[in-house]
Amino acid sequence: MEAAVRNGAAGRVLSLVHGAFSERFADIARACGRQVDVYEVPWGEAHDPTEVARRLAGRAYDAVTVVHSETSTGVLEPLEAIASAVAEHPETLLLVDSVTGIGGVEVRTDAWGLDFVLTGSQKAMALPPGLAFGVASVALMARAPTVPDRGVYFDLVLFMENLEKGQTPNTPALSLMYALEAQLRSIEEEGVEARWERHRAMARSCWEWVEAMRTEEGLDLHVLAGEPHRSPTVTCIRLPDGLTGPDIVRGMKERGFAIGGGYGRLKEGTIRIGHMGDHTVAELRCLLDVLRGVMTGA
Ligand SMILES: Cc1ncc(COP(=O)(O)O)c(C=O)c1O
Repeated sequence: MEAAVRNGAAGRVLSLVHGAFSERFADIARACGRQVDVYEVPWGEAHDPTEVARRLAGRAYDAVTVVHSETSTGVLEPLEAIASAVAEHPETLLLVDSVTGIGGVEVRTDAWGLDFVLTGSQKAMALPPGLAFGVASVALMARAPTVPDRGVYFDLVLFMENLEKGQTPNTPALSLMYALEAQLRSIEEEGVEARWERHRAMARSCWEWVEAMRTEEGLDLHVLAGEPHRSPTVTCIRLPDGLTGPDIVRGMKERGFAIGGGYGRLKEGTIRIGHMGDHTVAELRCLLDVLRGVMTGA
């Protein structure tokens, strides 16, 4: 996220905020000394591309930051439509955190005109933590040399200079790259589109389970994200009165399962299920059966 900002924006940035990670993107831009305007919508909602267009028409921005799949709320942004709005302003680059997107959700870097897309190894790529990936557009690489204070570790110009010599500017985490090579082979075997479909199927199972908990158990659970903007990789579930996130997470741990607690300001009232990476619908159903037991005290 810091590499995106350090190389993609010298001046003013528009940050689309709707959760803890998109808020962090704005914080990082501020920490890098950029002027940041925030377009925030309630946590659990997605941004309106028309409003993005309106804001870009009203002021010049070097870049827009957006979190594709907001892991704290389970919202998937309408990325292609947001990218179309940004594309009307060639001087504005689109910086995308797709940490819980890539590997589980369709992302078209070139066709959608995304200028920097980043992800980590430990989410839908299902690798150990420790690697970060980024892909930059020609426009971003043309701007980078003109941006002052790029620092050292995140200087993409330095990365390119080294790449031309078949080198890296710093010591790479080689062991993780062997793991990456094996995982990419297995993703290729599954087929990337089949992988996206498996993620959609897992998400549908999770949402249907929430509905079943309401109708069969009378528990007032809700998927936080509204219907058209739900992420296929993570679901944030709003809990009914009387159940708290930390208690449910503890109950699951006692039964040998790990789920995500609510994040940031959603800590008490929500839990999160990460249905991503190499998980399957069958595994997810098994986890949801256990979760039903924890919630109903069975
Ligand atoms: C959307 C998103 N962005 C960024 C991050 C970065 O996380 P970290 O700082 O732990 O590498 C995460 C981790 O969960 C995330 O989900």
